[in-house]
Amino acid sequence: MNTNNKNLEFCIIGCGRLGISLAVFLSKQGYIPKAFSSQRIESAQKAVEFTGAGTVVENPVEAVGTCNLTFITTPDTIIEPVCEAISKENGFDNDSVVYHLSGALSSSILTSAKKNGASTGSIHPLQAFAPYEKGQDSPFKGINMSIEGDPKAVELGKEIVNALKANSFTIPTDAKTVYHASAVVASNYLVTLEHFALELLKEANLSEQSAYEILEPLIMGTLNNIKARGSIDALTGPVARGDDEIVSKHLNDIDKKMPQFSDLYRLLGKYTLDIASKRGEIDDTARQRLAKLFKL
Ligand SMILES: NC(=O)c1ccc[n+]([C@@H]2O[C@H](COP(=O)([O-])OP(=O)(O)OC[C@H]3O[C@@H](n4cnc5c(N)ncnc54)[C@H](OP(=O)(O)O)[C@@H]3O)[C@@H](O)[C@H]2O)c1
Repeated sequence: MNTNNKNLEFCIIGCGRLGISLAVFLSKQGYIPKAFSSQRIESAQKAVEFTGAGTVVENPVEAVGTCNLTFITTPDTIIEPVCEAISKENGFDNDSVVYHLSGALSSSILTSAKKNGASTGSIHPLQAFAPYEKGQDSPFKGINMSIEGDPKAVELGKEIVNALKANSFTIPTDAKTVYHASAVVASNYLVTLEHFALELLKEANLSEQSAYEILEPLIMGTLNNIKARGSIDALTGPVARGDDEIVSKHLNDIDKKMPQFSDLYRLLGKYTLDIASKRGEIDDTARQRLAKLFKL
């Protein structure tokens, strides 16, 4: 843990789901909440009540003046203007370290604080946070958190993540958008994909619940295979085998019975064929036949 007490003092601007959880679990690890500022005074009061420390400060400039470490945990669209408003009043200085916790935006939106001399960074927890409830377990424990920003902010960020008992990894600032796109594909689009699979199985007169229960072992087994063998070698099925006859049957039925899924099946098949081709196991004729079937 950082032994410089001044560096352990922090303030929160935006006392919502993440801001309050962060304050509570950092304060349990010896970090000291000095000030809470939020749109509504009640939210900042809640943060003081839950952490048992710090004060409610209406003006965010005053809040950042109480310490060197600032977390701006407002909604994404407000982070930049909030930071600019504080910077305009020279709220930050050379000793300040300023973070936001957005996954989609990089530390570049904190440029105004940098102009005040501050170090800036973003720390993003790959986790969904519900509103904090008194006595709850830490939602940070064991999760993965990305860090990017200035060298000083990245180093302190690692200490902060470590104090939260989470795992940190660093990414380049200009890769923040693709990092977030990856999280969207891995989580949201997985849901989309499974929804597609369930709709196909519903065509076999199964309810969504039974369709999910039937597919679950296959889904989990596939995730385990990706973990054990990597995403290229985990691929099985007709495309990986170069079996264009089976794929052609799928497409005939989907085109006839569920044409709303025709393009999606072809698009996914096309990308799956690219993955299968990396293994070099499909002969050229089968690959060309499959490519023709997948043409949109
Ligand atoms: N929740 C998650 O699952 C999650 C996960 C990863 C990252 N994040 C990131 O964490 C950040 C906060 O998200 P959240 O889910 O905690 O949002 P949230 O629950 O909506 O909290 C945001 C807080 O910001 C306050 N606020 C709004 N405008 C403000 C302003 N102009 N000045 C000061 N405070 C203001 C709101 O105030 P009042 O309550 O005072 O009205 C609200 O309490 C975002 O960058 C988000 O992308 C969230």
